[in-house]
Amino acid sequence: MKRQVFAAAMIAGAQLMASTAFAAECPVDVTDPFDLEEDAVIALYECMKDSMVEGYSKKEDEVATAYREWTVSSTRPAVAGAHGNRFLQTWANDIAAEQYLKFEEEGVEMPVGSVLAKESFKIHKKKKKAVIGPLFIMTKLEEGTSPDTNDWFYSGVQPNGKPMKLKQSFCSDCHIGWIDQDALAYPLEEVRVSQD
Ligand code: HEC
Repeated sequence: MKRQVFAAAMIAGAQLMASTAFAAECPVDVTDPFDLEEDAVIALYECMKDSMVEGYSKKEDEVATAYREWTVSSTRPAVAGAHGNRFLQTWANDIAAEQYLKFEEEGVEMPVGSVLAKESFKIHKKKKKAVIGPLFIMTKLEEGTSPDTNDWFYSGVQPNGKPMKLKQSFCSDCHIGWIDQDALAYPLEEVRVSQD
């Protein structure tokens, strides 16, 4: 009996290693992310998505371990240019989802406690494969807590699960450009999840 359990554990272990090794290699045949066709982006995300959340969650980060249960705001990851030409896909927590997914352009005020988590990956030009980028996070604080950033707190998790070191002004100075949308830039129009 014991031996059987041991054998089963060995098989499970071997499968786990095989799937991890597979996930680490997601080849791409273009070097410019803007050249990747929609189907290829979807296939690439399929290949990357498990290892992404696995990496972000390595240090038990609260957002990293939760965001895949939240509401996704796009039909697939897309490359907008900002955030280092990475493919981006944003998830909204329960507090944020209703307002965020309206993608309103004026008078937007996100509720306190809203969290948006944007996962990312990019094409490694020399290795011709996709590599995981950071999980970028915005958290809405109590009114008046941080006037310079419109009460957003910016943070991030590296692909190894460790927190990103960043300056609030680095993120905010760009995001504040969308002040009528409460500093939110939203996904590209063609990939936004429709509300109908
Ligand atoms: C040069 C401009 C720029 C900088 C700097 C920047 N962002 Fe963004 N950010 C964008 C754009 C553009 C989008 C929307 C892109 C998309 O999803 O297609 C975005 C989207 C986001 C989102 C999803 C919510 C939204 O706005 O729709 C989060 C979360 C985010 N950024 C976090 C960060 C963090 C954290 C930093 C600092 C490390 C940062 N950003 C720096 C331009 C920027």
